[in-house]
Amino acid sequence: MPRSSKPIRIAPSILAADFARLGEEVRSAEESGADWIHVDVMDGRFVPNITVGTPIVAALRKVTQSVLDVHLMIVEPERYVEGFAAAGADVITVHAEATTHLHRTLTQVRDLGARAGVSLNPHTPEEAIRYVLDETDLVLVMSVNPGFGGQTFIDATTRKVERIREWIDASGRDIDLEVDGGIKTGTAKRMVQAGADVLVAGSAIFGQTDYRQAIQALREDVT
Ligand code: DX5
Ligand code: ZN
Repeated sequence: MPRSSKPIRIAPSILAADFARLGEEVRSAEESGADWIHVDVMDGRFVPNITVGTPIVAALRKVTQSVLDVHLMIVEPERYVEGFAAAGADVITVHAEATTHLHRTLTQVRDLGARAGVSLNPHTPEEAIRYVLDETDLVLVMSVNPGFGGQTFIDATTRKVERIREWIDASGRDIDLEVDGGIKTGTAKRMVQAGADVLVAGSAIFGQTDYRQAIQALREDVT
């Protein structure tokens, strides 16, 4: 089984956090061992839910030095990436399904000084990113249909992670392979064995009472 040679990074998704105490929640996740902070931006069009925008990213930038991993589930993300880069996002991930000129959008993100991520819905074949790997710093494979936390992991996406791991290794490029949706002990292990090296988890971390224990459980699962 192909495994990433990089350390596994754990990225709690703030979607499952208490928004009334967001700064505190993020600090507490960091103190509990989180590596990145995952911010889910939804527009009510690409996905049937609305969450947060640039002001929240800018506010979080003031309270954390951790990588702010911004997942844009919005149509025409090219219209907004400049704003998210200015707000302090480190990684800006757009959906391949949401932008007509994916190559141009990824280049735009890099030109803004952020790391360019591309995400695929569960049904989207990995071929959608085959010709943009040179412009990509991170691939995010959705293992649920984006829009909500707490959904059930879709196992068919494991094979997609394996295929993309092969491509990344063959490319010799430094590209992170992130998975998002239904990640908890068991599915985390499966995805890391398939080649993932960044694990997003919402309910499995912020949905628990003890964040340290929750993060530790994920780490033990994938070791
Ligand atoms: C879903 C979001 C996820 C979500 C994951 O559209 O992209 O980041 O927060 O939540 P869990 O880990 O609960 O499936
Ligand atoms: Zn996400």
